[in-house]
Amino acid sequence: MAFPYNDIVLEHFKNPRNVGRIEDADGKASEGSPACGDMVSVYIKVDEATEKITDIKFESYGCASNIATGSIITEMAKGKTLEEAKSITWQEASQALGGLPSIKAHCSVLAVECLRSAILNYEEKHGLVTNLEPTTE
Ligand code: FES
Ligand code: FES
Repeated sequence: MAFPYNDIVLEHFKNPRNVGRIEDADGKASEGSPACGDMVSVYIKVDEATEKITDIKFESYGCASNIATGSIITEMAKGKTLEEAKSITWQEASQALGGLPSIKAHCSVLAVECLRSAILNYEEKHGLVTNLEPTTE
């Protein structure tokens, strides 16, 4: 069987962007996977006036797929509005990474859901929540 990760994924895995935590984050979330017991956390700083993400960091205790996705979606989300960042899908993340192995899709979804949860955390704190439906995609 061929090695499942392409060079872009491996590059993000080895040099993940935006790793760390933001102590005074405006929104944060941690998501764990019952499947593997791994965890990922996302922290955001938000400019209230424009509702844009001014800074974002993540910590992952997951696999290469999870780490590479955290890296790429934090890059994609930085500077975006909350609405734009919420609509980032794992398919887009996978595409930006040149394709993730399908067997690892859920690890990628976990990172994307964690970003959405961090945004939701911000929205809850600021009374912006209009839709409490769980975000599944
Ligand atoms: Fe746990 Fe991928 S194996 S996050
Ligand atoms: Fe844990 Fe993929 S195996 S999220």
